[in-house]
Amino acid sequence: MTAISSATVDTDEPPPFPMPRRWPLDPPPALAELRRRGQPLTRVRLWDGSTAWLVTRHAQIREVLHSPAFSSDTSSPGFPKATRAAAALAGDATRWLVRLDPPEHTRIRRILAKEFAPRRVAAMRPIVQCAADTLIERLAEAPPEPDGAVDLVRELALPMPATVICRILGVPNEDREFFQDRTHVAMSADASPYEVRAAFADLRDYLDRLLREKENDPADDLLGRLIVDQLRPGELTHEELLTIARLLLIAGHDTTANMVGLIGLSLARHPDQAELLRENPQLIPGAVEELLRYHSVGNHGLSRIATADVRIGGQLVRAGEGVLLALNSGNRDEAAFERPDVLDLSRGASAHLTFGAGIHRCLGAPLALLELEVVLAGLLERLPGLRLAVPLEQLSFRHDMLTYGVRALPVRW
Ligand code: HEM
Repeated sequence: MTAISSATVDTDEPPPFPMPRRWPLDPPPALAELRRRGQPLTRVRLWDGSTAWLVTRHAQIREVLHSPAFSSDTSSPGFPKATRAAAALAGDATRWLVRLDPPEHTRIRRILAKEFAPRRVAAMRPIVQCAADTLIERLAEAPPEPDGAVDLVRELALPMPATVICRILGVPNEDREFFQDRTHVAMSADASPYEVRAAFADLRDYLDRLLREKENDPADDLLGRLIVDQLRPGELTHEELLTIARLLLIAGHDTTANMVGLIGLSLARHPDQAELLRENPQLIPGAVEELLRYHSVGNHGLSRIATADVRIGGQLVRAGEGVLLALNSGNRDEAAFERPDVLDLSRGASAHLTFGAGIHRCLGAPLALLELEVVLAGLLERLPGLRLAVPLEQLSFRHDMLTYGVRALPVRW
């Protein structure tokens, strides 16, 4: 392959990544600037002094995610780590599904895909409905005093997905607060590497004990079925099952919880659009896709490393070079979405990148969509008149976390 064309290389010092936001509900303006410059890939400098390619356009992000020339193996030398916490996670030797490449990835993914097939996800609806109804009903029955407020994050966004994933996996609900706290630390972009590793180790020890108990007496829940159908016939080892359980427990609640908070915020800020959905409930599934597009909860996007020389959008990426995919930028790409900076709950933007794409596309997406649809419908019906109890400027956003969102959402209705 030829050398990188000088026309596409920025000779200036690469800009730092991640870039700061100006407005909490929009991605960093520097990303839009890079898209406008028309350069498909840009060199950026990371916190540890290393550099990587940053991809900001929808089409090229999809190209990378669908290309077999990229690996997700974070232990490869030169794999880009966007934050200190990402580096701490990458330093641990766990064989997470998200960081496996084929054929190992294909084997584990195939085993798990059965548990997230449409029939299985449809059977999860009563669990999701019950968790959402119970929490929303409790709120509806005890509205705040006229000058008071309720924190929707604490009362709904955090407990709802955590309760659901506990029920699905077969993890006792009384242990929910323990793993919620440990996940919070594990996903914190500013926690020290020691804290991140300790949080993962605690989750591992807890689930190791739980799985050993379940192995003696498996119930008809996701982990019980994996014990009977996969562990006992030797398709999965105990260690592999433990890693799957840990991933599902973490992936299954942190991202969804943050989306629930952002959905509450969006309804409170756009009462006209909430009214439109109340009158046209058939728009709710599309509205959830648009909310996923607009908010892009994966704060720093996805990372990959090239395993072969490959051209992306005309730019040569050499084997061994790291690539960062700014999903929040791709979701606001004017070439992929009309008026991308507008939240339009009637548009149904299912081509968003929030669940990733390609072989690692979010396995839990059907469950996440179900949860978000149920919670959105419940909020519209039971808390009409939802509004912020403080100005938006006073809200604290999760700039430092791997998953973006709002820390607390004081509301009235
Ligand atoms: C709004 C909620 C969610 C968002 C935004 C989200 C986002 C993502 C993204 C972007 C990926 C791809 C990672 C990569 O390519 O490197 C992913 C993978 C994954 N997600 Fe989700 N997720 C959500 C909810 C869930 C839920 C509820 C579960 C499970 C119960 C789940 C389980 C997984 C698993 C197992 C993978 C790894 C798939 C693989 O590597 O093949 N996610 N998720």
